[in-house]
Amino acid sequence: MITLSTLNKYKKEGRKFSCLTCYDAMFSKMMQNAEVDTILIGDSLGMVVQGHESTLPVTVEDMVYHTANVARSNKHALILADLPFMSYVTLEDTIANARKIMQAGAQVIKIEGGAELADKVAALTAAGAPICVHLGLTPQSVNVFGGYKVQGKTEDSAAKLMADVKAVVEAGAAIILLECVPAALAKQVTEAVNVPVIGIGAGADTDGQVLVMHDMLGVTHGRVARFVHDFLTDERNQKSEYAGSVEGAFALFHKSVIEGSYPQPEHQFN
Ligand code: KIV
Ligand code: NA
Repeated sequence: MITLSTLNKYKKEGRKFSCLTCYDAMFSKMMQNAEVDTILIGDSLGMVVQGHESTLPVTVEDMVYHTANVARSNKHALILADLPFMSYVTLEDTIANARKIMQAGAQVIKIEGGAELADKVAALTAAGAPICVHLGLTPQSVNVFGGYKVQGKTEDSAAKLMADVKAVVEAGAAIILLECVPAALAKQVTEAVNVPVIGIGAGADTDGQVLVMHDMLGVTHGRVARFVHDFLTDERNQKSEYAGSVEGAFALFHKSVIEGSYPQPEHQFN
């Protein structure tokens, strides 16, 4: 069973860890069999499960439903779940909604933002909900950004991101997640904090790597993000003892992250 202490130990030892998004019981069981270290019930379910254009329509009830389905069939991974759009604006809502998702089976609650979240991070942690803070490209703010764009590319925005990370870690954040930031910045952040840092499109130097399950199985249409690799059709999976199965794709992802063969330089932003 992976806990926050396990991830902290891995960080000290330099052992990388894997994370995949998951939304239902059967895939969750396969991720357990593949020994994936952490699972995220992401509000990306708004797109890959519900067919919306963004994560904004996802509700707390949706998150509770999917979290319960995933948590029920996985006793190995640390289970993270998102608080969805506008469900953590007031402290009162934040606590009430985090409670619902923790009671559904999440072990860590993820919220998007920066230094302005410090009070909420402290309050939730004090109440028993460890917090992962998601920074960089935070999809719930797509309308503020004006599209899905790499963040932290200028000196000022990189400095702001670093200051935001330090503020939430100071407030008690247990995990940092960086999405679509330059690899060099992600490396600096990972070295600057003593909590585990998970990356997606953030280069090879973060402590953990996460991908959306559908993306890494090639269950996608249209343009695929640069950091995505299809582990299902990867010939190492096809030729493995898993005979090219979905479970084999999860196992290959896990192994590739731990060995450091994923991500490659072509998957990162500079
Ligand atoms: O919702 C999600 O899947 C996420 C990951 C992309 C990190 O937040
Ligand atoms: Na998310």
